[in-house]
Amino acid sequence: MERKIGVIGGSGVYEIAGLENAAWVTVDTPFGAPSDAVLTGTLGGVEMVFLPRHGRGHVHTPTTVPYRANIAAMKSLGVTDLIAVSAVGSLKEAYAPGDFLIVDQYIDRTFAREKSFFGPGLVGHVPFAHPTCARLSALCAGAARDLGLTVHEGGTYVAMEGPQFSTLAESRLYRSWGADVIGMTGMPEAKLAREAELCYACIAMITDYDCWHPEHDAVDVAQVVATAIANADKARALVAALPARIAGPAVDCAAGCTHALDSAIMTHPAK
Ligand code: ADE
Repeated sequence: MERKIGVIGGSGVYEIAGLENAAWVTVDTPFGAPSDAVLTGTLGGVEMVFLPRHGRGHVHTPTTVPYRANIAAMKSLGVTDLIAVSAVGSLKEAYAPGDFLIVDQYIDRTFAREKSFFGPGLVGHVPFAHPTCARLSALCAGAARDLGLTVHEGGTYVAMEGPQFSTLAESRLYRSWGADVIGMTGMPEAKLAREAELCYACIAMITDYDCWHPEHDAVDVAQVVATAIANADKARALVAALPARIAGPAVDCAAGCTHALDSAIMTHPAK
């Protein structure tokens, strides 16, 4: 089986440039409908599936994005490598708007979302110390570097519930925790991708300095959208550069992503 790339796009990335045999396909899942139809096609001979996280027209809030359906749709379409593209605020001086950061840790502060495919009747706990795929993340970072983008490899993403942006006290608190970026959609997406045994990487596009920076205005939507639009070409070029690096036969992931369920299930099969 060959690798198949899934891309969940956030603000700024609403399609895949140059996709061949492109078609929007409606998918249903046991967890309901995904955020939108998915765009399928091939790029450089590699099959790709694209899903706009908030739906075309940006209709789902960070809380109402159907995360479980989105991941289930990717899994049912045979995606092996899932890349999330997300707009984030920076919690560090050195990470400037327009930079990219490849996330390798999360702090999950969301509280109003379905976070697992498990539940009463089927109890499971997947390993999650390393929430992203090291192999896929390194490929994304390499592609970004080769394109001449400013990319920071590794960083902690605070996932907040929203939809309001943070207070100054919260922003300062997250900085005191050593977190690097903040966004509203990174969780539970990463958790569900692990439960689905998908390799998952997150390319975070920095759009603002949140509200902690004394020399920058507190974040608002206009700022996020303006930076996302100004950098959309970079994000699109980055996504387009991925197939050449990721192509090849699907193999067991050395980082363990494709084995996450091996020892996860607690419920007795006879029950
Ligand atoms: N998305 C983009 N910028 C953000 C910020 N500062 N806080 C939360 N989500 C964001």
